[in-house]
Amino acid sequence: MLKVRKAVFPAAGLGTRFLPATKAMPKEMLPLVDKPIIQYGVEEALAAGCDQIVIVTGRGKTAIEDHFDVSYELEKMLEEKGKTELLAIVHHISDMIHVAYVRQKEALGLGHAVLMARELVGNEPFAVLLADDVIDAAIPCLKQMIDVYEATQCSVIATQVVEGPAISAYGVLDAKPVEGKFHGRLFEVSNMVEKPRMEDAPSNLAIIGRYVLTPRIFEALERTPLGAGGELQLTDAIRLLLQHEKVYGYCFEGKRHDTGDKAGFLKATVEFALKRPDLGEDLRIWLKGLKL
Ligand code: G1P
Repeated sequence: MLKVRKAVFPAAGLGTRFLPATKAMPKEMLPLVDKPIIQYGVEEALAAGCDQIVIVTGRGKTAIEDHFDVSYELEKMLEEKGKTELLAIVHHISDMIHVAYVRQKEALGLGHAVLMARELVGNEPFAVLLADDVIDAAIPCLKQMIDVYEATQCSVIATQVVEGPAISAYGVLDAKPVEGKFHGRLFEVSNMVEKPRMEDAPSNLAIIGRYVLTPRIFEALERTPLGAGGELQLTDAIRLLLQHEKVYGYCFEGKRHDTGDKAGFLKATVEFALKRPDLGEDLRIWLKGLKL
């Protein structure tokens, strides 16, 4: 059985929702407390057993490459000043993993970004993580999904219930629960649609940005016409994949933060800071003192 070793991070988006902060800085580098958003995802992939990271970048994204690279001058300076804790943090980032980069020259959509990783992934199952979706979980979300992949040998899509009109911001699954397995969290997918109108949504099961995919997805992506927003949608390609293979939805355990949204980003910042031993207590007291 092939293991899921590679994790693909589409990171070529323009980040217009966070302008002006993202004019000269990739949105993936915005910090949640003191760690760039993309690092949360990379650490999750590692904790799930992936050891090769593929980041699909575009223009203006060199800060991401620098972040995961060795910063010789910084490490030397921290060493000389005896700042061993900070040195360990900085060194850990570049030491973590093998990262490969591939450029997406045009922003043609999520499906197109994944297709760019084809050569680096090859003929094996792989994970896709959308860094915007930061998932706080006792067992890393991707690890939960790889467990499902290993039991089923099929593609697995993370899902969560989204009520009301907000569903139109997501890909939505048409799926029915698989009884007696994975504590009612597993769904067999029969169809899926990208960003439907609320009245057209086949269910309230929204796609969240974690996927484990079989390599056959690349052939499907090549056959997929442009879809919602004039983009090559991963959701549409997985719908084509369904003609050949089973696909499962998995309702993961954990809390998902949509850091691609300003309010979601702020809430995640506060929640993560409150959990930090070095910051939480002060922040809690300060928050309680605010006249709201
Ligand atoms: C992407 C996917 C969508 C999914 C969402 C989850 O959309 O296309 O199917 O529901 O991520 O965050 P985006 O938010 O990039 O428009």
